[in-house]
Amino acid sequence: MKRSVGALMTGVMAVSLGACATTQDRRVADQWANPVDLGYSEATLVTSQPAEPQWAAPDPEMDRFIDNLMERMTIEEKIGQLTLLTSDLQSTGPTLREGYEADVRAGRVGSIFNAFTADYTTRLQRLAVEGTRLGIPLLFGYDVIHGHRTIFPISLGEAASWDIPAIERAARISATEAAAEGIHWTFSPMVDIARDPRWGRISEGAGEDVYLASQIARARVRGYQGDDLSATDTVLATAKHFVGYGAAQAGRDYHTVDISERTLRDTYLPPFKAAVDAGVATFMTAFNEFDGTPASGSRYLLTDVLRDRWGFDGFVVTDYTSINEMVAHGYSRDLSQAGEQALFAGVDMDMQGAVFMENLKQSVEAGRASREDIDRSVRRILEMKYRLGLFEDPYRYSDQARQEATLYRPDFLEAARDVARRSMVLLRNEGDVLPLAASAGRIALIGPLGDRKADMIGSWAAAGDRETRPVTILEGLQAREGVRVEHVAGASDAFDAEGSREGFAEALALANRSDIIIAAMGERWDMTGEAASRTSLDLPGNQQALLEELVATGKPVVLVLMSGRPNSITWASENVPAILHAWYPGTMGGLAVADVLFGDYNPSGHLPVTFPRNVGQVPIHYDMKNTGRPIELGEPGAKYVSRYLNTPNEPLYRFGYGLSYTDFAYSPPALSADGMGPGGSITATATITNAGEVAGEDVVQLYLRDLVGSVTRPVQELKGFQKIRLQPGESRTVSFTLRPEDLAFTRADMTHGWEPGEFRLWIAPSSGPDASVPVTFTLTE
Ligand code: NOJ
Repeated sequence: MKRSVGALMTGVMAVSLGACATTQDRRVADQWANPVDLGYSEATLVTSQPAEPQWAAPDPEMDRFIDNLMERMTIEEKIGQLTLLTSDLQSTGPTLREGYEADVRAGRVGSIFNAFTADYTTRLQRLAVEGTRLGIPLLFGYDVIHGHRTIFPISLGEAASWDIPAIERAARISATEAAAEGIHWTFSPMVDIARDPRWGRISEGAGEDVYLASQIARARVRGYQGDDLSATDTVLATAKHFVGYGAAQAGRDYHTVDISERTLRDTYLPPFKAAVDAGVATFMTAFNEFDGTPASGSRYLLTDVLRDRWGFDGFVVTDYTSINEMVAHGYSRDLSQAGEQALFAGVDMDMQGAVFMENLKQSVEAGRASREDIDRSVRRILEMKYRLGLFEDPYRYSDQARQEATLYRPDFLEAARDVARRSMVLLRNEGDVLPLAASAGRIALIGPLGDRKADMIGSWAAAGDRETRPVTILEGLQAREGVRVEHVAGASDAFDAEGSREGFAEALALANRSDIIIAAMGERWDMTGEAASRTSLDLPGNQQALLEELVATGKPVVLVLMSGRPNSITWASENVPAILHAWYPGTMGGLAVADVLFGDYNPSGHLPVTFPRNVGQVPIHYDMKNTGRPIELGEPGAKYVSRYLNTPNEPLYRFGYGLSYTDFAYSPPALSADGMGPGGSITATATITNAGEVAGEDVVQLYLRDLVGSVTRPVQELKGFQKIRLQPGESRTVSFTLRPEDLAFTRADMTHGWEPGEFRLWIAPSSGPDASVPVTFTLTE
């Protein structure tokens, strides 16, 4: 039986928005008593985008068309445009309305999600265009997160590539496939900074770092939206979840968020701002609260920051039933009030909650919601439909022939294989176990993830096929000529398999008659994603026990880890000679794993997120503060310093870390000057040499530390990176230019800007104060 959120949350007293609006206004005014510049410095965020997105250009003809249309619309029809409902094809939460087709025919719904294919979208579109009084076309949305049919690595895996053109290309292909199936709008990119690996949705974003995530946010928006929204191979992008969702307490999904205003501005907002700068067309609110106000009811976030400060021109959709959930949050007394608060806050479209649909008209009649606010939102949504060309031809995205010619195109599949290879991170390679020789001998592929198609594509795999298309690791290895491989699962990743030895004997027999063991272990695909939080980061089930027995055979072991979060593979990091993190690598994943294992592709991924030694170190991220008692102050083992009794402070693997089959040597950085002042710049260079015997790529990373500030500053911050490819023996001098604006942050008085002082700078292959020799420069007033 489908659960009705509406039914769970109705029946409470209605109150007047008047009182509430006054309180909100006052709070908003207080928060902005000191107007600050939230226009984060983007000097180092390279962009080819104009300041004003192409789709926001003034269009008097569109304005006339929409004026005319809105004059003819009833209040019910207007509210219909503010309503988004799921089709019954797929749904990702409790479904509220089964009669959505009747709602479409009645003009009570303006957009549908989870509907795709040329056929199906044509049928639904006909209901709206031919069956309603004004014939306003529907907008079709869908979670196209890391591919539509051709599935790329999960978003966190793509981020590990640090390869901005590759990430943009993946988004471009995803949009092309999605748009060929009638989809106009993707609920992606998810740009939430995530620093808690317990949180299952860490897999959906770009990791822990503000700078890297902002670059990726831009790339994805460009990839989805292209240069022209009206082209039939582009879709509207959505920056989600606005904002702070990644800071859910204890990593439990949907949990309370309690972060400071400064942390909001310096850590959580910048990737959203980057998306706005790249021209993102829509925003999605978050489920969580910020400072006691649910995001879908926060006028501060949705209007003051997003509209007034950032000048965002697109429309804002809520997350799934998040207006309804304002009642459970204890912020709204009933659904009417929740709808009024959300509209007033700046929400334009209600996803799946039917709160606007069922309450807003009465709220307007009672004077608790304004017609102007409704018109504002209707206009934003109609404008987007117009810009997509839907009023000209509502069926232009639903084209059977284009669909057939587009899905799973060979060049798309090849791109998915390429991005998958680029995303993999070589974590350990003692004794150069990898790459495997073509004559590797008999391979024992052991582990539950060796041959399970469903896992290859991870969570949020949209319309990706889990049953037939994905190439498993076994199939990837078998596809190579001359490879002799046998597979047994041997262990289970089911939580309740812990303690069981079922399958071990068979696995050990195979291991003992083989020359090399590849352990394909990790987490089942649905152990990350929405509503998939864990309190342990260990390998689930009995995999760890089997891994230990495999190592005890004395045969060389390669662990191919598949998961959507950092795992505490501390034992493996000391005992398994080679470890490759493959994330969930997508449709072509097995082939990509084989490419890397055999050295056809030299791994180049670097971690976009810190790997803790155990869950007790969480939260742990590279840009932490020094504290008043940093561990270095004391002798080893000193008591009254900031440390644990039982675990080092150092993570298992640092942010930015990743090995290659070759070695890169870094010269100490050199600076163009000792310092810079306002309007000036400084260039930092370092020479990187490929000191090994094979060609390879490295991610050259620039970190800064602002030594003293009006508020304490992180021990390191990434401020630039370049991915370079070098032939054996080749050297390249890499340079980064910094301006004072690149050193800006939220100062003690809450203004955004830089402060004079001394800075330490590193150019290194990973984060960490000892990853290279730092140099110092001064910023003068
Ligand atoms: C809920 C998720 O939080 C959001 O990311 C997604 O886009 C919607 N469901 C729609 O599926």
